[in-house]
Amino acid sequence: MKYYSIAIDGPAGAGKSTIAKKFASELGFTYIDTGAMYRAITLFYVEKGIDCSDEASVCRYLSEIDVDICYIDEAQHVLLNGADVTGSIRTQKVSDNASKISAIGQVREKLVALQQQMARSKNVVMDGRDIGSVVLPFADLKIYLTASVEVRAKRRFQELVEKGTEADLSTIAKEIEERDWRDMHRENSPLVCVEDAKVVDTSDMTIDEVTTYCMKLFDEVKGCEQ
Ligand code: DC
Repeated sequence: MKYYSIAIDGPAGAGKSTIAKKFASELGFTYIDTGAMYRAITLFYVEKGIDCSDEASVCRYLSEIDVDICYIDEAQHVLLNGADVTGSIRTQKVSDNASKISAIGQVREKLVALQQQMARSKNVVMDGRDIGSVVLPFADLKIYLTASVEVRAKRRFQELVEKGTEADLSTIAKEIEERDWRDMHRENSPLVCVEDAKVVDTSDMTIDEVTTYCMKLFDEVKGCEQ
């Protein structure tokens, strides 16, 4: 039986998880948020008080970490050594340290193997930074989702304001630029737009427009197979 795989990559704040979730739901595919897996590993070190930029210490404990994902009412839940950490991986401290943890080669090897195994037995929409380039180089469809720094900063600003958190637009824009730079310039699996990816700039598009466009791209892929 043929299983389809769809890779969605792009910088932080481009709308990857929102779109990937909706796209997967429309197609009846399983959505896999790989960023959540890097966050779960990060949480392990944050809770242990280990410096996430100390590669030797991080690698020493890696074999003690078991990351898994499961689905409850179609929503992805992340398990860290059997405990559901879906809520606790979204803190600022985990976000700040996740880019250090995800830059470590041994961490990536561990998670890439797990992600490839997940895609082997089902239809998936997987989002991250290295899905089209490393995890699923033979994906049926690769999408590179992006948006201008200005638009991504405004979206993040809005999210924080809605949560009642104080925020400054220019600080957020600066943080986004720094994060982009780190993701694109790291030695291990940097964020790249691969040649065979379809680039979708979501700056002036609504979520529904992007989802409809992605569905059209997938229909084209299936049309070419017939
Ligand atoms: O998408 P996110 O913010 O949840 O990702 C968390 C961190 O993990 C972020 O620093 C980017 C990194 N990441 C990665 O390096 N490779 C992936 N496939 C997914 C996320």
